[in-house]
Amino acid sequence: MKRVITYGTFDLLHYGHINLLRRAKQHGDYLIVALSTDEFNWNKKQKKCYFDYEKRKQLLEAVRYVDLVIPEENWDQKVSDVKEYHVDTFVMGDDWKGKFDFLKDHCEVVYLERTPEISTSQIKNDLYNK
Ligand code: CTP
Repeated sequence: MKRVITYGTFDLLHYGHINLLRRAKQHGDYLIVALSTDEFNWNKKQKKCYFDYEKRKQLLEAVRYVDLVIPEENWDQKVSDVKEYHVDTFVMGDDWKGKFDFLKDHCEVVYLERTPEISTSQIKNDLYNK
């Protein structure tokens, strides 16, 4: 069984996220999403989520492409996640292109093209500025 992992916040789940998850799953048979915790988002990424971790997790678990959701609590857990979950392929959107190439010592690393013109920040901006 080929295992794939991806990381992200996935707040206000939108079709760009679904496109990413669908294509990530096509790289294997089992897709793990490491979902940023509220603390990690706030302390390290300066992001305040609209939906808290448990709600974001529930939404992701309802997506047919997702097999397992685990917490992302820091920047440095990727190598140990890859080992612990026997990951074959690491997938991220190409806004992160090159940033995780150090994982190539441990698994395949794939950057997927982002879906244009949609992001959580964009949704928030559009709604707040109406
Ligand atoms: N993603 C994508 N296409 C989009 C938006 C996101 O492929 N239009 C991918 C990202 O590249 C990442 C994953 O979805 O691999 C999770 O992204 P996340 O940062 O949670 O979503 P964004 O909508 O980009 O959120 P923000 O605007 O807060 O950065």
